[in-house]
Order: sequence, then structure tokens, then C-alpha cells
Amino acid sequence: MAEGELVTDFKKLLTDTAAEVEEMLDQLLRVEKVPEARLVEAMRYGTLNGGKRVRPFLVVATSQLFGVARLCALRTAVAIEMVHCYSLIHDDLPAMDNDDLRRGKPTCHKQFDEATAILAGDALVTKAFEVLGQGQTHSDPQVRCELVVALAGAAGHEGMCGGQMLDLIAETTPLDVPGISRLQRLKTGKLIAVSCEAGAILGKAPAPVRLALSAFAHDIGLAFQIVDDILDVEGDEKDVGKKTKKDAAAGKATFVSLLGVERARSQADLLKGQAIAHLDSFGEKAEPLRDLAHFIVERKN
Ligand code: IPE
Ligand code: IPE
Ligand code: MG
Ligand code: MG
Ligand code: MG
Repeated sequence: MAEGELVTDFKKLLTDTAAEVEEMLDQLLRVEKVPEARLVEAMRYGTLNGGKRVRPFLVVATSQLFGVARLCALRTAVAIEMVHCYSLIHDDLPAMDNDDLRRGKPTCHKQFDEATAILAGDALVTKAFEVLGQGQTHSDPQVRCELVVALAGAAGHEGMCGGQMLDLIAETTPLDVPGISRLQRLKTGKLIAVSCEAGAILGKAPAPVRLALSAFAHDIGLAFQIVDDILDVEGDEKDVGKKTKKDAAAGKATFVSLLGVERARSQADLLKGQAIAHLDSFGEKAEPLRDLAHFIVERKN
């Protein structure tokens, strides 16, 4: 297949998977005629607003390696996307990054208000664990329990929240490359890693296979945040869908502030190659994951 066709096929796969994820989100977040309906409206606003759906794609693509039922993969994918969207809603709050634009639209607290945005984030993260715990996500309660533990670990103080704390500290305390790598691994890497691990958990994959996937996830997770930092410097606000040049304005230490754009980009390319090499044992079935690694580094938003 010619390279152009491959790119088109991958983009279609990403869009089609995103559409399935959005349908599931829509089903799980119904607005009922209740006095507190505004909260669900804010949850829908913060999730059904056109993200790239990279994490759900990872869940679905890794699930396919192990023949996991589509419904189980999609419900798990949606749970992780709910946690991701909650993290974005809170990340944009005035007490955090104080951003007005997200995915090309006003941020949740701008569209609603701060208190509602806080509650929408809280309710999304709790909904995610409700979804994982429900029987439709997997028939084996042990598997559901493993998913809950893995997502909680990736989202909490040893994962995304811990990374967000370090990110705030990075505004005032100089960090070196190992320090930044750790920050990025917690802030962004852990949620990407659990998205890859989820397919293996759902498919009850053996330990060596999980290890290869986790090595892949480690490398694309770091590459993903490096590219996010490059886009903050070089990206076009219209493409990126969020305000750019924010990290430097906030005095945030990032890979780009430390290494410069060129070296940060070579680092991302290196990580992409390493990530793809970890997929060798999966053969053809891992093609969507290889394509995603390219997409992560080449993306414009
Ligand atoms: C943005 O994540 C925040 C980071 C962790 C870098 P994405 O780039 O995946 O954002 P969406 O979901 O596509 O909007
Ligand atoms: C946020 O990182 C990552 C989260 C855990 C939400 P950024 O603050 O760099 O994300 P953007 O650039 O606002 O999407
Ligand atoms: Mg932030
Ligand atoms: Mg931010
Ligand atoms: Mg950023």
C-alpha cells in the first residue's frame, strides 16, 4: 500500500473509532429532566467536544490484539476518556492553567462557571469508575477490579494528579531533563500507559506481552507530551484548538524550554522509533498502533 493510502486509512480508523466512542459517551451521559441537569450538560460539554480520542484508540487497538469484545473495549475506552476530559476541565481552571479555549471552544468554566466545571470534573472521574465496575465492561469481576486499580493508579497521586502537582512546581523550581521526564511520565504518560495496558487486562494477556506493550506505551507517552510542548511553542492556535505560547509565559520548564525545539523534536522521533520496535512480536495486528505512533509525533493538534 502506498504511504498516502496508509495515512488516509489510519485517519479514517481514528475518526471511526472516535465516532464509536462519542456514541458510547452520549449513551452514558444522558440529560434527565432533573433540577441538577446542568451538571450533566457540563459533563457532556467537557467530553463531547471533539478531542482526538488518542487514549480510547489505544484501548481499542490493544484490545484487538487479544480478541476482546468490542463493547468491553469501548466501555473501557470511554472510562479512560472520561478521566482524561476531567483532567482537562480542571487543568483549564483559573487556579491551574487559566485557559479560555479548549478543543477550539470556550473552556468548561467559561461556558458554565467555575463551580460547575469543578463538579463536572468530579462527576466524570467518578462516572468512569462506575462504568469500569459494571458487569457489561467484563464478565469477570477480577478483570473489572484490575481495570479499576490500574486506572486509579494512573490518575491519582502516583499518576496524572502527581504530575500536575509537579507541573505547578515547575513554574517556580528549575528542573533538569530527568526531572522533566518524570513530570511528563506522571502527568501524561501514565494515562497513556493504562490505555495500552487496558487491552491486555481485558484480554488476560500473559506478563511478557504486557511488558512489551508497557515499553511501547512508555515511549509514545513521553513523545506525546514532548509534541504537546512543541505545539505550544510552534503550533497554530486555530489548528491546536487551545491558546499557544502559554508554557513560556507561565515560566514552565518543559522539554522545549530545556533542549530547544530541534532537540526536543529529535527526542520525540527517537522515542517513536523505539516505541515501534517494541511492537515487533505482535506482527501485522499491531499496525494501527504503529500508525498511531507516527500520528502522535507528526500531528498538528
Ligand atoms: C492534551 O491531551 C493534554 C495533554 C495531556 C498533553 P490531548 O492532546 O490528547 O487532547 P485532546 O483530547 O485531543 O483534546
Ligand atoms: C495537561 O498538560 C495534562 C493534563 C494532565 C490535563 P497541559 O497543561 O500541557 O495540557 P494542555 O496544553 O493545556 O492541553
Ligand atoms: Mg497544565
Ligand atoms: Mg493546560
Ligand atoms: Mg500543553
